[in-house]
Amino acid sequence: MTISSHIAPAPETTSPGLENTVAAETILSHVDGAAGRLIVRGYDLDQISSWSFEALLVLLWKDLAPGQVTEADVQSALGQARAAAFHLVERLLPTIPHLSQVEALRFLLAALADSQTVPHHVMAIAAVPVFAAAIARNAAGSAPVAPDASLSHAEDFLFMLHGTRPSEENVRALNTYLVTVADHGLNASTFAARVIASTKAGMFSSVIGALCALKGPLHGGAPGPVLDMLDAIGSEDNINAWLSASLARGERLMGFGHRIYRVRDPRADVLKQAVGLLRHGGGRIGFAEAVEAEALALLAEKKPLRPLQTNVEFYTALVLEAVGFPRESFTNVFAAGRMGGWTAHVLEQERLGKLIRPQSRYVGPQPSQM
Ligand code: COA
Repeated sequence: MTISSHIAPAPETTSPGLENTVAAETILSHVDGAAGRLIVRGYDLDQISSWSFEALLVLLWKDLAPGQVTEADVQSALGQARAAAFHLVERLLPTIPHLSQVEALRFLLAALADSQTVPHHVMAIAAVPVFAAAIARNAAGSAPVAPDASLSHAEDFLFMLHGTRPSEENVRALNTYLVTVADHGLNASTFAARVIASTKAGMFSSVIGALCALKGPLHGGAPGPVLDMLDAIGSEDNINAWLSASLARGERLMGFGHRIYRVRDPRADVLKQAVGLLRHGGGRIGFAEAVEAEALALLAEKKPLRPLQTNVEFYTALVLEAVGFPRESFTNVFAAGRMGGWTAHVLEQERLGKLIRPQSRYVGPQPSQM
């Protein structure tokens, strides 16, 4: 038998970063980057941004998961699952080594067993705020607070974080945030979740993989650095000098630019409005608006070929700071919202039942002929 000295070529077309590549069909959400629209199962973002997170889950899970057909069903199932997740916190929190908050979340999620009897999509959603709040408190030297199953998901998250009943306006702001970031087409973390789900590895493995993708500063790790940037700029008279120097060093301005949007990210406006409604959010918003305006002007000047607009992370930072999350926990709060989309995409991918296995184009050396 002769071995061919030529390696069969893979298809010619490659796209670094899979830009402009359609890798899945989904009924869940669509990002229209030219028009600046986000559509979630037939609704524009501004139609659903006032919904409860539980109502959004009903929509996302509809026909993909058994049970939980009403908002009340979801609220009750999540409340019970948060209580179950808290047992893990009590057992495992003292054993967590020295980790960042998102690493600690990854650690605790990894302890969810596939043999778990609570439906996995419900447990995945319930566990994140329980873990994230306990991790944030632990970092501040405080004991975890047990969930209250009777509360809404957003209210209980703040209750577990602060140990006191949150104000209605803070609950509303956090709920708006969770709904706004819940799903967003085939972003990197959702794609990661679908790849893992396609191997039939299960819900927990899929969403942990998604969290690992979310953690990077080009995806869900940006809002903490947005606040660092606002702090570093410090005052209005330093905005232009600071941003210009940062761009001159070739740095990226956190909270700006997007792979799909060529116009303003519609989520930025929803979150800007949410923070504007908070009485104590107003202080920083004026300064943030001034930074945003200057950043957009400088980006248009320095990067004329690439329309760079404000993305979701800029005002995320202000909302989460205003309701009392420490910036080190921001990625975990993002995961709490995006878990809605991840679980639905995993369910959709599992239903499709097709392994995701693309090809690569070999550009290395040919084997030498024997
Ligand atoms: N600040 C400065 N320049 C930016 C920029 C930013 N925030 N975002 C993109 N650019 C520039 C790049 O430097 C590049 O310029 P060049 O062609 O002169 O080298 C050009 O725009 C294209 O960048 P590229 O990395 O190819 O675009 P992308 O679509 O892959 O990147 C992001 C999308 C989100 C990764 C990118 O905009 C970014 O890094 N933003 C900052 C981080 C952030 O806010 N992430 C949260 C996303 S929701």
